[in-house]
Amino acid sequence: MTSKMRFVRSLMKAAALANVPKYVDHFSKFSPSPLSMKQFLDFGSTNACERTSFVFLRQELPVRLSNIMKEINMLPDRLLATPSVQLLHGWYNRSLMEILEFLDKNPDDHRVLETFMEALVAIRNRHNDVVPTMAQGIIEYKDTLSQQDSVTDHNIQYFLDRFYTSRISIRMLINQHTLVFNGNTNPAHPNTIGCIDSMCDVTEVVRDAYESAKLLCEQYYLGAPELELRQMNASNNREPIHISYIPSHLYHILFELFKNAMRATIENHEASRTLPPIKVMVALGGEDLSIKIHHLSRFQSYSLT
Ligand SMILES: Nc1ncnc2c1ncn2[C@@H]1O[C@H](COP(=O)(O)OP(=O)(O)OP(=O)(O)O)[C@@H](O)[C@H]1O
Ligand SMILES: [Mg+2]
Repeated sequence: MTSKMRFVRSLMKAAALANVPKYVDHFSKFSPSPLSMKQFLDFGSTNACERTSFVFLRQELPVRLSNIMKEINMLPDRLLATPSVQLLHGWYNRSLMEILEFLDKNPDDHRVLETFMEALVAIRNRHNDVVPTMAQGIIEYKDTLSQQDSVTDHNIQYFLDRFYTSRISIRMLINQHTLVFNGNTNPAHPNTIGCIDSMCDVTEVVRDAYESAKLLCEQYYLGAPELELRQMNASNNREPIHISYIPSHLYHILFELFKNAMRATIENHEASRTLPPIKVMVALGGEDLSIKIHHLSRFQSYSLT
């Protein structure tokens, strides 16, 4: 590329970025389409069609990105101005513009589908460090404050919950498209459709999450409570419990709950020589699955439907 072409390209990029607020306003008027696990499974198995997925995502991803960008724009000025949030803001702007480039592309052209797949992978990689970058932004913001303000803290917590939920949903959509249509099946996991496992072994994930939390707990406290795991399958108690779910999501949720339960157990038993176990009950009913994590007299439960 000649230097003149490079210059023209950078001008075009700058012009496109200048239009970002206009696009954010437009796409944030739409609500994200709610998608059930069943829709993901049906779409990924029998009806898998890359063209349909492309047409859906080139609209749905801008809607989801714009909705959260609108909320980012409403953050307190001092938080928005931190170098970390600026960096993150730039990633969102760029990713939005990259997807919008596909709006007028022909879905029947296989090269378009290929470039779209590449664009999604690039976007996913660009956003890998969003969580630590946002956390860093909050630290930078807190450094600028002379005193704590509980209302602002509460508002930021509210934003962060929505921001991380939005990120999970966007990554889930990108992952499903790139995994289902990359042409490779995973022989080690024949029951997976994208990142969803239609035979997710819940007790295995519980044990994995417990073991990871235990390692961390032992490093920090030099000991950890044991796990007492029971399961109840209403339809047939001898059958193992399998559900359609995203194992990595279940693992993260359980890992956080185990860390909390271990910490509370240890801190409540500092004076005693033995630690009571953490009791987990996995129960599958006709309609839903519940996981109850119980320690001491307190309990936390998490139920999935
Ligand atoms: N199982 C529990 N028993 C008693 N207190 C709990 C339990 N789980 C959470 N808490 C209380 O709720 C607070 C918030 O929990 P949360 O998991 O959101 O954050 P954290 O554990 O403090 O930090 P992080 O999870 O980010 O390491 C904890 O600090 C703790 O005081
Ligand atoms: Mg915690």
